[in-house]
Amino acid sequence: MEHFHYQHGELFAENIAVRSLVEQYGSPLYVYSAQAFKDNFQAIKQAFEGISPLICFSVKSCCNLSVLKLMVEQGAGLDVVSGGELYRALQAGVAAEKIVFAGVGKSRVDIRAAIDAGVFLFNAESEAELQRIDEIALAAGKRIKAAIRVNPDVEDEDTPEKTATGGRQTKFGIPLERAYPLFAAQRYRQIDVVGLHAHIGSPIPSAQSYLNAIEKLEQMVDKLAEQGSPIEFINLGGGYPATYGTESKAATPLPEMGQAICARLAGLRARGIRFLNEPGRSISANAGILLTTVEFMKQGWDHKIAIVDAGMNVLIRPTLYDAKHVVWPAQFGQFNGSWQALPHRDVEAGFEKVDVVGPICETGDYFALGRHLPTLAADEVLAIFSCGAYGMSMASQYNSHGRPAEVLVEGSTSRVIRQREDHADLVAHEIAALSVA
Ligand code: LLP
Repeated sequence: MEHFHYQHGELFAENIAVRSLVEQYGSPLYVYSAQAFKDNFQAIKQAFEGISPLICFSVKSCCNLSVLKLMVEQGAGLDVVSGGELYRALQAGVAAEKIVFAGVGKSRVDIRAAIDAGVFLFNAESEAELQRIDEIALAAGKRIKAAIRVNPDVEDEDTPEKTATGGRQTKFGIPLERAYPLFAAQRYRQIDVVGLHAHIGSPIPSAQSYLNAIEKLEQMVDKLAEQGSPIEFINLGGGYPATYGTESKAATPLPEMGQAICARLAGLRARGIRFLNEPGRSISANAGILLTTVEFMKQGWDHKIAIVDAGMNVLIRPTLYDAKHVVWPAQFGQFNGSWQALPHRDVEAGFEKVDVVGPICETGDYFALGRHLPTLAADEVLAIFSCGAYGMSMASQYNSHGRPAEVLVEGSTSRVIRQREDHADLVAHEIAALSVA
């Protein structure tokens, strides 16, 4: 079931016409479908049912408290990468034993907070980090479980360069060969190193890339068993794809991907190993859209330009990764059906080539360049699809634009889950300094 769909030309989020949301809450606006979050979580659960993992929703993809609470209510654990995300996770009411703490540069303060909270598992990324965790755990009088994030030297050729994390040139994880000694019993006073973690990038469109990484993990599990360091947990990371509708090559469909991964892990499961994964985008991306309004139309030297009220500060993915999102008017003739059926790729009569750009003073501030869209006009509301992941969570106040509001739709009701930032919010941490100087 598609929760963003057109009825007689009007785009709906579940049962609400999105243009009415802009009227009510203003523009730009992030809009999420609660049902889409639930369905996408269930889809991950089903895809991986062969290994029944603890599914830890990746907070960084969409960190709004109400979204996290919704995920927790579905039974998700949470994957956090900072003290701030840990704080969010706890505020959202997750049980600490369902939190995994990842991140390549964990600070002392954040480690202490995670130990005090009693998180389930640390995903450690260096020997120095393990030593730091050990010292802090000793001071806190707590025993800790850790997984080692290994760098398996596996990449997917379709993962963007800036989000590929499994290759040997990246900063992530510990090279496989260097990891063995870190599992030795009694090496650490307070840490039981009982897990293996691998996250090879985001997104990973091909199931084969996961299988390549798993093959290396399997070999490690065997060697570690011989060494007398049995593994209890394998954390498969995240990276399962979402639908952007602009892909040049189709990703392995999630059910197939899950099935292939589970089949491959059946042997390890039979040996009593338990599994975790950390999906973000595959749950959140298609659960959110960004609504933005055309401020002006203008004619450039040789192209038409639509200037909208959201910029790279609101959605940075096109600027940062050259990510391509479907951009389309929220009102489109008499069109019926899912946004995925929109004719956004085709050059058709009545469509014209346009750049959709933001108000920010940078050339890279755009959402679509040279796209064929229906003729746009000022004040028209546009939807940018598949924005639930790494949209608002990467938003900033650049050019002193406050971040937009976030709205959650459930059936025929909508509510603000994050208020729009106003000018006072922009200066809140600076204003007191004026009277001191
Ligand atoms: N686990 C770890 C250790 C990660 O680093 C990440 C994402 C995930 C899980 C979740 O990955 P997902 O399932 O969402 O693909 N801002 C970029 C993506 C950065 C991903 C960072 N790590 C984007 O907008 O595409």
